[in-house]
Amino acid sequence: MSSSQPDERIRRVFAPNLGGMSNSPILYQTKENPEWWRSSVIYQIYPRSFADGNGDGMGDLKGIEKRLPALAELGIDAIWCSPFFKSPQKDAGYDVSDYKDIDPLFGTLADFDDLVKEADRLGIKIIVDLVPNHSSDQHEFFKAALAAGPGSPEREMYMFRDGKGENGELPPNNWESVFGGIAWTRITEADGKPGQWYLHIFDSSQPDLNWDNPKVRDMFDGVLRFWLDRGAAGFRIDVAHGMIKRAGLPDVAVADSHMGGAKSEAQMTIRELEEKNPFWGQPEVHEINRRFRKVLNEYEGRAMCGEAWVMPLERMATWVRPDEYHQTFNFGYLETPWNKEKLHKVVTESLKVFGDVGAPSTWVLSNHDVIRHVTRMGYDQIPKQGDGIGPNSPQPDEALGQRRGRAASAFMLGLPGGAYIYQGEELGLPEHTTLGEAYREDPTFFRTKGERVGRDGCRVPIPWEAGVNESNGFSSTGASWLPQPDSYKKYARSNQEGVAGSTLELYKRLLKVRRELSMGAGNFRWAPEYQDGNTLAYINNGVLVLSNFGPDAVVVPAGEMLATTQHDLLIEGELEIDQTVWIKL
Ligand code: GLC
Repeated sequence: MSSSQPDERIRRVFAPNLGGMSNSPILYQTKENPEWWRSSVIYQIYPRSFADGNGDGMGDLKGIEKRLPALAELGIDAIWCSPFFKSPQKDAGYDVSDYKDIDPLFGTLADFDDLVKEADRLGIKIIVDLVPNHSSDQHEFFKAALAAGPGSPEREMYMFRDGKGENGELPPNNWESVFGGIAWTRITEADGKPGQWYLHIFDSSQPDLNWDNPKVRDMFDGVLRFWLDRGAAGFRIDVAHGMIKRAGLPDVAVADSHMGGAKSEAQMTIRELEEKNPFWGQPEVHEINRRFRKVLNEYEGRAMCGEAWVMPLERMATWVRPDEYHQTFNFGYLETPWNKEKLHKVVTESLKVFGDVGAPSTWVLSNHDVIRHVTRMGYDQIPKQGDGIGPNSPQPDEALGQRRGRAASAFMLGLPGGAYIYQGEELGLPEHTTLGEAYREDPTFFRTKGERVGRDGCRVPIPWEAGVNESNGFSSTGASWLPQPDSYKKYARSNQEGVAGSTLELYKRLLKVRRELSMGAGNFRWAPEYQDGNTLAYINNGVLVLSNFGPDAVVVPAGEMLATTQHDLLIEGELEIDQTVWIKL
């Protein structure tokens, strides 16, 4: 079976029927197939910024534990926690120096055990964020590799190469770091002379591990089992498309030519896309996916979601074939703007390509790497992801972003499959778009000398109790590792709790209805009979989800109104621009 051609037998069993018949129930969580991850709502916690339990301004595991009841009330099934492992924090914990311990910033292993126990009591699973593509340069294996010298087994744990040029003074190839600059750093050898180079697709503090080395594979089997034994429900796997680099580490082709003309990525076949970039999405990475899956299969009811930024979605779907990941983040969906035609296309395509391999699609709008979606949607021209927004950038239209963002969330949470929510999203929390340079921590900011301000704006600590202190209750002391913008007071949870029409109450309602009517395991179809030129409509398990993209208001079809982003809809009777309603037909 080639990577682009899912097995025909699987296609027949699993393909969803988008024309109006029911989906195969096997795709989603049912009595016959009780795999929770198929239809779950997973809430991403960025531990630095969720809740601070000890008042030092940095979020921690005890803080999370204390706030669990609020998440249970929100109605989520699981938490994905961004990394809390021992780390010098050069990339906010995605630079791990010990995969089997907790960084003192966040607590202890005992705190993790308490968290799992308390979450379990509340019916919430805990998913750990594993970072296998690279370690920290402070990991004992990297320190040993530096000390051991060229050609040693220690160096074989990472990607060391001699440089080009007469004296090895040029990097081994032309690869660039995701965070800016070249992807290689030259070291000084023990004799004090300039020596080999090591590869880092991200920051220089994050050397890439050598996944062709069986020792690396064995080491991670152990790491997976360590957290599974401690009760983790599974993993979010960081950079799941990057672990294998093409043999020989060839240069990235600067311009692709085919039949005499350059092809855009959209025109390329999957094979051509694999060829184009020698460090993303190489075919051999699927062996690693299968290896991880085998370890997870040793345990009951665990799942893993891969961060596989590979497009098109048909290609991403090859990461979730039956013996690979359970889920991937649907970045095609995340990147889709609030646009009727584009949403119709991406949902149709997602259900088709993931359905073809027997995996439910996931749906996601925000995470710790992208501009928060209520802010993105406040622009006509969306700023480039990863670049961030700073005080000198054009500023978003806040009210527009709130309206579209809420409508987009209500559209998303009605879809069948897995849904992801990023902390603060349930408050309609915007990006911090005017964070000063002095506060920047993202390596992107430093590696591009401030040209790309980076991702800190979506990582600001979240407000709990309005006005109790400087950080609106994030910490007991008011301390906060990044300052909140003034607007966070208004968005604080305490200002929304029990307030009709608030974003928090909207999310609670959507998740409650989603659960009660099993929409996560639903029977989806487009509903053109409820659409006019401005609207997009689908029906899932008897619930009509109708979104208006404007400009004119539309009459709401008859039926019981289950949820709405438009607070006064019952009085007005017409659904306005940038609003979504759920109706029980
Ligand atoms: C992933 C993470 C991101 C991190 C990078 C390097 O993309 O989501 O936050 O910087 O990997 O680990």
